[in-house]
Amino acid sequence: MEATIVPDNVKHYPVLLKEIISVITPQHGGTFIDCTFGQGGYTQEILRYKNTKVIGLDRDISSAIVGEKILNKFPNRFKFKNLKYSNLNNLKLRNENIKGIIFDLGYSYTQIKDLNKGLSFDSLGELKMTMGLNNFSAKEAVNHLKDKELEKILKYFGDENDAKIISRNIVKERLLKKLDTQDLVKIIERSKRKKNYKIHNATKTFQALRIFVNQEISELIYGLINSVKILKKNGVLAVVTFHSLEDKIVKYFFKTLSEHKSISRYEPKLEQKKILFKMPLKKPITPSEKELKENPPSRSAKLRYLIKQEDVFEINTDILEKFNHLLEIENLGSKL
Ligand SMILES: C[S@@+](CC[C@H](N)C(=O)[O-])C[C@H]1O[C@@H](n2cnc3c(N)ncnc32)[C@H](O)[C@@H]1O
Repeated sequence: MEATIVPDNVKHYPVLLKEIISVITPQHGGTFIDCTFGQGGYTQEILRYKNTKVIGLDRDISSAIVGEKILNKFPNRFKFKNLKYSNLNNLKLRNENIKGIIFDLGYSYTQIKDLNKGLSFDSLGELKMTMGLNNFSAKEAVNHLKDKELEKILKYFGDENDAKIISRNIVKERLLKKLDTQDLVKIIERSKRKKNYKIHNATKTFQALRIFVNQEISELIYGLINSVKILKKNGVLAVVTFHSLEDKIVKYFFKTLSEHKSISRYEPKLEQKKILFKMPLKKPITPSEKELKENPPSRSAKLRYLIKQEDVFEINTDILEKFNHLLEIENLGSKL
């Protein structure tokens, strides 16, 4: 593990904490999985309720330090695993009393301030953007993919209007030298046709590359599928998203699981299909005025949740087909 360069005054603020607790209701006890353990904000709040157990997962090994402290306090009620949530099925939890599974997507403030991770445009040196347990980094992607491939990543994962010109310029410049973080920021700034005064010009490209490097689309899709399988009756799946792409995936998945709608044209007997999930709110829960004031980065957070109605393991979903075009783009990483 590399040294972490995080200033001491970095404050961690678990987003929508009160709202998460009110939808997963830990006061009734049970086992909860915190799929994005981070600094343990949600986990610690759940553990305040007796009769609860928490399994915390995080792909970033730095979280194990916080995990260790919580384990010392609750040796029988807490476990930390350095695992990607797409691999939730490896934990063999099918027969556990899983009452709640939570996802707080993306990266933490602590991670973005860790300049070694290269997630921020202020990072110096090597391009990385890796959160942990990665197969490649942004350095390989930016220095080896073809311009058309980079363009797809920036367009579909970052909604970047200037994807084409940025990708072409990356490919041109990398002939001269191996690109590092600041080289990339300069290329983006030079390539943008319209300067953005609301967000940093590199925001969309960095988001796109981070999603690609961490394979966030397949992580989310497999994480969701594995979660709904192992939840017990009345168990809650709660997901906090931060950008429109992840919210679109979560919204689609929740909607199709909770609605009387055909998910397959080969399955015409709709009326007889059992609805295994309830989505109590159509609209997402968003931060209160108070939270927005105390923690402005929470402004893009959206919480959606689903309640399982029956103990059934096999779930029918077309989410993989629906988002296959995005999974194919992510798969460009397999050749790096
Ligand atoms: C927004 S932070 C969560 C903060 C947490 N709710 C808290 O209160 O401390 C997201 C965390 O999810 C982790 N993460 C992101 N993708 C992951 C994945 N696919 N599998 C496991 N952990 C992941 C990140 O490393 C990061 O620590």
